[in-house]
Amino acid sequence: MSTIPPTLVHSRLAEQLEAEGAFVYLDLAAEARKRGIDVISFGIGQPDFKPPSEVLAAIKEAIDEGHIGYISSLGLLELRAKVAEYLSEKYDTDVKPEEVAITVGAKSAIFMAINLLTRPGDEVVVPDPGFPAYECTVRFAGGRPAFLRLREEDEFRMTPERVEKCLTKNTRCILVNTPQNPTGSVLKKEDVEGLLEIAKREKLAIISDEIYEDFVYEGRHYSFLSMPEWRDYVVYISGFSKTWAMTGLRIGIMVARKEVIEKVGVMAINIYSCPPAPFQYGALKALEIGLDWFKEIREEFKKRRDAACDELNRIPSVKALRMPGTFYLFPNVKELVAKLGYKDVRELAKAILFEAGVALLPGTAFPLRGGDGFMRLSYVLPVDKIREGLRRVREWVENK
Ligand SMILES: Cc1ncc(COP(=O)(O)O)c(C=O)c1O
Repeated sequence: MSTIPPTLVHSRLAEQLEAEGAFVYLDLAAEARKRGIDVISFGIGQPDFKPPSEVLAAIKEAIDEGHIGYISSLGLLELRAKVAEYLSEKYDTDVKPEEVAITVGAKSAIFMAINLLTRPGDEVVVPDPGFPAYECTVRFAGGRPAFLRLREEDEFRMTPERVEKCLTKNTRCILVNTPQNPTGSVLKKEDVEGLLEIAKREKLAIISDEIYEDFVYEGRHYSFLSMPEWRDYVVYISGFSKTWAMTGLRIGIMVARKEVIEKVGVMAINIYSCPPAPFQYGALKALEIGLDWFKEIREEFKKRRDAACDELNRIPSVKALRMPGTFYLFPNVKELVAKLGYKDVRELAKAILFEAGVALLPGTAFPLRGGDGFMRLSYVLPVDKIREGLRRVREWVENK
């Protein structure tokens, strides 16, 4: 076994970082495939459709025209202006171009927002289960994550009542994710209003990660940008990875008041200089096209959600809520773990992978505690594959 030489020893900050559980399980699924297992994967959080062809054509054209150099760290001016116009219309507000940063995926926006708003010792309320980068980045920034346990009985929503219970004199910021990864929950209007009321009363910032904003199947998505006072409290984050199926092109969006965006520009210069220009031309084309084409995608995802939910609930000792957003379900498998005698949900996930050939992520990958006894299923597969995969799990359970 190799040990790290003293010249390359890790910093304290590097020790705070943890690999995202989803990626660890994707590696395991790859290993299972190598062993000859035909794996059906519900692991990955990546759309299986393609962006409209005009978007891809615009990217190719941008490259052919030579838009491959450095540009402003905050992104193309035309794109910032278009994002401002697009979001203003979508959420009935008045975002200005100087209040928009184009970032390298939503993830870099999350990283910069948390690092900008957190001072050493500050507490940041983060959902548990939740997107692993939140916890990790809060620690990295010298802050402390205050975990808010999302409960099945609240349909996994981060309700204002529950947030109140997490507040201390050190609370600085509330990290909200709606629609939510990994549970699929969507905040109601009164939740969004209630959270903003708390922010106003306690003088807190809200970082709102709305990357799944277009994947809502019942009701609608309430954005923090639709609150009239967003400018004094809210950092909105989204991007092109999910709706536009551009995960690998790394174009994210941050909206916040001008002074915050200016600082983001400085941070961005020091981290990555600028988001890649050709892909921003693709993003610009995407917003010009608008979302009409996406209705069909949403309908398809709703069918998948229903198929996955029905099949999950046919598996003995598994209970899945029909969650209204994202492309994830978060079934409760506590009884199954106990019945089959596994130590925890990680062991169950491994057994299902290697014995039934189905990849599901243990809830504890998001990031540790609140997901115990749950699994995340990502329904980015055609309906027949979803049914086949979950039938396999059912038969495996029945024959155990
Ligand atoms: C809640 C949430 N935020 C942010 C991201 C990252 O988005 P991007 O790929 O644009 O960095 C993801 C991706 O899975 C996510 O689930």
